[in-house]
Amino acid sequence: MPKDNLMEKIVSLCKRRGFVYPGSEIYGGLASTYDYGPLGAELKKNIKDAWWQYFIRQRDDMVGLDGGIILNPKIWEASGHVKNFKDPLVECKKCHQRFRPDKLPDAIKCPECGGAFTEQKMFSGLFKTTIGATEKEGLTAYLRPETAQAIFADYKNVLDSTNKKIPFGIGQIGKAFRNEITTGNFIFRTIEFEQMEIEYFIAPDADWNKIFEEWLKYIYGFADLIGLPVDNFSNHEIPEADRAFYSKRTIDIEYKFPWALDELWAIAYRTDYDLSAHQQASGQDLTYFNEATKQRFIPHVIEPTFGVDRTMLALLATAYAEEKTDNGETRIVLKLKPSMAPFKVAVFPLLANKENLIARARKIYNDLKSDLNCVWDDRGNIGKRYRAQDEIGTPFCVTIDFDSLENNDVTVRNRDSMKQERIKIEELKKYLTEKIK
Ligand code: GAP
Repeated sequence: MPKDNLMEKIVSLCKRRGFVYPGSEIYGGLASTYDYGPLGAELKKNIKDAWWQYFIRQRDDMVGLDGGIILNPKIWEASGHVKNFKDPLVECKKCHQRFRPDKLPDAIKCPECGGAFTEQKMFSGLFKTTIGATEKEGLTAYLRPETAQAIFADYKNVLDSTNKKIPFGIGQIGKAFRNEITTGNFIFRTIEFEQMEIEYFIAPDADWNKIFEEWLKYIYGFADLIGLPVDNFSNHEIPEADRAFYSKRTIDIEYKFPWALDELWAIAYRTDYDLSAHQQASGQDLTYFNEATKQRFIPHVIEPTFGVDRTMLALLATAYAEEKTDNGETRIVLKLKPSMAPFKVAVFPLLANKENLIARARKIYNDLKSDLNCVWDDRGNIGKRYRAQDEIGTPFCVTIDFDSLENNDVTVRNRDSMKQERIKIEELKKYLTEKIK
């Protein structure tokens, strides 16, 4: 399938079936903002739940945090964001489109209309807001551009309130906001998005490169867990000249998106830059005392970071398929891992107007629903219902027919093989739960 075509198809499917809607659409939209519909909300939740389980709950050296979106602005001054979180900007004098000149192949003329550019200005990526009664008297604050800083600001609280000892990490999932100049590619780059970040604290004399490599390997375990094939990834080692000045090593973990390889996640060794900066600016002691070695130090940090929205786009692009069926039709199917699929099971009564069928099907549906995310569908014929479920990635469809009433069994149809099996009702939940793990 041509690559542009694939993006168009994904965008169209997302709107049609309720994964992603353009933001504020009834008011003509708002550039680079999107809303997640019922299915998108489920898919995002599955990504975040899998991440939390794998990176936080499954590890003894990790804890979670849910820090604020609006923090004391001094945090952003100390972290360097107020001063440095800026990009160069030029505007085309003819079509008035704005660009980052450092991202253009030819920074002399507009790539859209050939017009000349205005002089380059620096443009802050921070969204400002005001806390207080009036804009004049209020305190200027910022919407966080990354979740990481709340972790640094709370690192001492976490140490004091838990039994964690270095090395240990804090993970957080939450919204971040960036006033991006260049946007586009659907939910890949937006002004409001969600991050899943880890700050992993280590001793200054630890073998940071070994720990960095261990985390990188562990990240690939997450890719496998959610169904992103390792072959679609590439590690882009960022050269020193392009790294943030405090980073000793950064890898952009790139993924084969429909347009090209592009950054999906990243991992960086941030040294002791952040905690040192916060210690200095806050005047608080952020050192760590190692009882065993009697050493006192400011911990260094390895930071694996993930975008939820980009992960969802990578999953959709990887899962989207069009297949010819035996009767010559084309079916659209989202081959998501069952654990990621918004609905695990669709339940159909064969006919929508037979009381006894409906009653039996409802009973099965209600029973499955307490453990598996299920959807009920009694519209149209069974073939149409299968197509509708294939398109949203539902791995199993269960049909209750007249034989079910006699024999206590149902038809279970598999999304990928399209094969059907008869399964006893009393074994149905166990059968489905095992396949969905
Ligand atoms: N704390 C480090 C940090 O924020 P980053 O590479 O700027 O690093 C981390 O962002 C991740 O957040 C990216 O790898 C990407 O997945 C996601 N991300 C960044 N900017 C984004 C945007 N404008 N829209 C959607 N996702 C974004």
